[in-house]
Amino acid sequence: MLLDQIRSVTTAAPLFVPRMPRTGKEMSVRMTNCGPLGWVTDKTEGYRYQKSHPETGKDWPPIPDLLLDLWKTHSDFPKPPQACLVNYYEPAAKMGLHQDRDEEMFEAPVLSVSLGDTCLFRIGGENRKDPTKSLKLASGDVILLEGAARLAFHGVDRIYPATSTLLKRPGRINLTLRRVSR
Ligand code: SIN
Ligand code: FE2
Repeated sequence: MLLDQIRSVTTAAPLFVPRMPRTGKEMSVRMTNCGPLGWVTDKTEGYRYQKSHPETGKDWPPIPDLLLDLWKTHSDFPKPPQACLVNYYEPAAKMGLHQDRDEEMFEAPVLSVSLGDTCLFRIGGENRKDPTKSLKLASGDVILLEGAARLAFHGVDRIYPATSTLLKRPGRINLTLRRVSR
């Protein structure tokens, strides 16, 4: 099942602590990637996609078939995703409002899969100050950021511990599939 495939990914490419550009402040999520490219961030080089893990130096493992199938089923984009960011949220972790805009183009959607504990997800418009709506994302939920929502500000305000028994540890995994270049 999908979770087993994600465990293989985190074995090959261990979760790392991402740091904010310039300040070097630790983000509260732990992350890794699979696919030809992975999204990383650190103090000196900031947000970017690169082909290898920042700590092991190894290429990222391939994107699991089940995720490639989800992309084929739910996205209209003709080419496969190039990156799958794996975010692990401990119960106290969150993610501030941001846009996904490190890709070279925005025609392809971002497909998100949630596993484990439910979270409170917030999404607004293309400007940071646009009004936002909150919704709960539960284990198994798939959302697409596409069309007008592709560049919408979004973030995770909280995790609701013990709302799922899927994971061995409390917390939430989010997978986002991205096409980086045309
Ligand atoms: C993200 O924006 O990278 C993650 C969103 C989520 O965890 O649902
Ligand atoms: Fe995002």
